[in-house]
Amino acid sequence: MAKIVTKYVCQSCGYVSPRWVGKCPNCSEWNTFVEEAPSPLKVSRKPAGAASRIEPVPLDEIEREETPRVSTTIGEFDRVLGGGIVPGSLVLLGGDPGIGKSTLMMQLALKLSQSVVLYVTGEESSRQIKLRAERLEPAGTQHILVLAETNLDLILDVIERATPDLIIVDSIQTMYRPGLESAPGSVSQVRESTALLLRLAKTRGIPIVIIGHVTKEGMIAGPRVIEHMVDTVLQFEGEAHYSYRVLRALKNRFGSTNEIGIFEMHDSGLREVRNPSEVFLSERRSGTSGSTVVASIEGSRPILVEVQALVTSTSYGMPQRTTTGVDTRRLSLLLAVLEKRVGLGLGTQDVFVNIAGGVRIDEPAVDLGIATSITSSLRDAPVDAGAVAVGEIGLGGEIRTIGHIEKRVQEAAKLGFKRIVVPQNNAKGLKGTNDIEVIGVDRVERAMEILLV
Ligand code: TYD
Ligand code: MG
Repeated sequence: MAKIVTKYVCQSCGYVSPRWVGKCPNCSEWNTFVEEAPSPLKVSRKPAGAASRIEPVPLDEIEREETPRVSTTIGEFDRVLGGGIVPGSLVLLGGDPGIGKSTLMMQLALKLSQSVVLYVTGEESSRQIKLRAERLEPAGTQHILVLAETNLDLILDVIERATPDLIIVDSIQTMYRPGLESAPGSVSQVRESTALLLRLAKTRGIPIVIIGHVTKEGMIAGPRVIEHMVDTVLQFEGEAHYSYRVLRALKNRFGSTNEIGIFEMHDSGLREVRNPSEVFLSERRSGTSGSTVVASIEGSRPILVEVQALVTSTSYGMPQRTTTGVDTRRLSLLLAVLEKRVGLGLGTQDVFVNIAGGVRIDEPAVDLGIATSITSSLRDAPVDAGAVAVGEIGLGGEIRTIGHIEKRVQEAAKLGFKRIVVPQNNAKGLKGTNDIEVIGVDRVERAMEILLV
């Protein structure tokens, strides 16, 4: 009998180790290793038909075919996918528990009334699925088939008979292949289940969306180890106490990964946000200190958002630096630049920075907005309510060139802003219009003089 060798697998990245280790040598996460029994399944690779001789094909003889896509009729979803669902593609939809993944997929299923959609649920009962569907769209659910099952072998059998046009698997962590010894949700189960679904999608041409949970710490049993197997990885994110949700493509074999889709969660499900700038600025109160409007680029779209800062004296211990929607390390860097170059005394101040609406912005072009809000709050001087600020700040306090400047200026003008402060280099060759004045600045101190009233 073959010797049974136990192995330890990192639940975060799938790294396999013969011993248990505390810190993963591959992804540096702590306490992620679990013991996994060896797989009793022998993967049998059938030779590709003995009769067929395989031949390479000259590249220019390969017919170029446009990838046909099926529109989901949810514009924001189509945008992120790159124009719709590609037949035979395998899509992973990840996100925190409770963010709205099941809701999004059920809404999509409801919209595809011309197709047969199979909704496989391992998390909720069929009754719960029914209740959700009724809450979302009371009429027109006859095209949706619900299967409350977690045994993938049985599920495959159903798919053979039902021939759906789209399959939704909610969630991959609950699915299992009975031949494997490890528990559902373990790396080997998740990997095997995904491999099976991948084969199904490719051989039958049925698009499959698999839902995967990602916990707050980013510790995931599964999804990260299957990211390389699927065609598209979508991430659904948002702050728990806000109703806005952002859908991003982290990987897309059939489109760009830049686009985002914005939704808002209502009692009757997710609603698309087609005019994000207006929505994100709707609660802004002009004239208060610590609030600056920035023009950010998300994918191919400019979005105006409000960066808020609150600076107050530290009453005890270490000064706090807290952010929502921006990187805390970026904040530390900007604080250091403001101390050194603008001469702000921030060493004994608590600093809180927040992007209103609960969206997350990672591009450095918001630096100037963050710096302006902090300075404004510290000095208790409001920012010009008719102005937008964009620019990356360098360690020397210089304002550095950013991309997509025209789009940012246009969006600011469209929403009725009168002035936009941009990096000096961007301002060259950029003409203001009658609607908006473009002001180029090269130093952060200079920007503060212009923006603070
Ligand atoms: P859900 O789709 O179950 O999240 P996930 O599948 O990502 O775990 O939705 C979670 C939350 O959404 C839940 O707290 C209730 C809320 N919700 C609404 O606010 N409105 C709705 O119409 C629905 C269906 C859910
Ligand atoms: Mg769910």
